[in-house]
Amino acid sequence: MALYTERLMRHLDAVEQAITAALPKAEGDEVSVAPLMAYACEGGGKRIRPVLLLEFCHLCGGDPQKALPFAAAIEMIHSYSLVHDDLPCMDNSPLRRGKPSVHAAYGETMALLAGDALLNRAFEAMLSPQVEIAPDAVIRAAYELAHRAGIHGMIGGQVLDLACEGKRIDLPTLQTLQEGKTAALLTAACRMGAILGGGSEEQIRQAGEYGYYLGLCFQIVDDILDVTSTAEELGKPVGSDDENEKSTYVSLLGLEEARRRAADYTRQATESLTAFSEERTDLCALAEALLVRSH
Ligand code: IPE
Ligand code: IPE
Ligand code: MG
Ligand code: MG
Ligand code: MG
Repeated sequence: MALYTERLMRHLDAVEQAITAALPKAEGDEVSVAPLMAYACEGGGKRIRPVLLLEFCHLCGGDPQKALPFAAAIEMIHSYSLVHDDLPCMDNSPLRRGKPSVHAAYGETMALLAGDALLNRAFEAMLSPQVEIAPDAVIRAAYELAHRAGIHGMIGGQVLDLACEGKRIDLPTLQTLQEGKTAALLTAACRMGAILGGGSEEQIRQAGEYGYYLGLCFQIVDDILDVTSTAEELGKPVGSDDENEKSTYVSLLGLEEARRRAADYTRQATESLTAFSEERTDLCALAEALLVRSH
């Protein structure tokens, strides 16, 4: 099952170009993290977050072209989170997107700095004077990302994820953890798109709800694939959750119940979008495809 419909494929092409445009150019042979930033963001990623951002912008009547710096920004933040997530002090993973992870290729110190640099670059891209979106929408969208990628979102989730290693946690704690580490950024992507597209408050709210449920499903499927897939298919190691003694839906509830919950969240995501036109079916198709994804 293809992940993207035709229109979403067009967003994907635009995203690839926007990421290249937003990254710093490597200058001469001076010591620089620029090549590592490009390495971390290069192909192999599904680009779910920026594609969602552009689609919600489109559905709200905005021009996705103008939202491209924000699409690049959220993918840079996601990519930085993966660089740091793979570090030996975190998940200790040598493989990412089918290549050696950044620290495996360039060393830990430079990987740490490349991650930091991507985080800053994301804000440079969004807040550049060249952005052609009304300042109030720019500020609101940048705030969304800052807030949901921070301690009450992605970072908070990662903190909990690491603090819970080796412990038996209960289901509500696991849900809080996954809301943070994964659903927060997907929520941000959808809300940012709706904000930048000039959506109504109700559309922004529903976009966030879709992103939230999609995010919960997305992490459950990630946890399932860690058990059922292969490193070749995933482009990252399998069995790593077990090795790192992580609690996941699979370890807490078993594969079958994890799959049932993922399907439930997909349904909740697709039912969230009543304030959007018929074109919302592309997002329903995406949610269904993400449920049965193989990588
Ligand atoms: C991996 O995210 C980390 C999680 C939040 C589960 P993705 O599965 O979106 O990774 P890429 O960008 O496609 O490599
Ligand atoms: C990562 O979750 C979430 C973030 C990077 C914020 P995982 O640790 O499960 O992601 P993978 O499996 O390494 O991609
Ligand atoms: Mg992790
Ligand atoms: Mg990991
Ligand atoms: Mg994982």
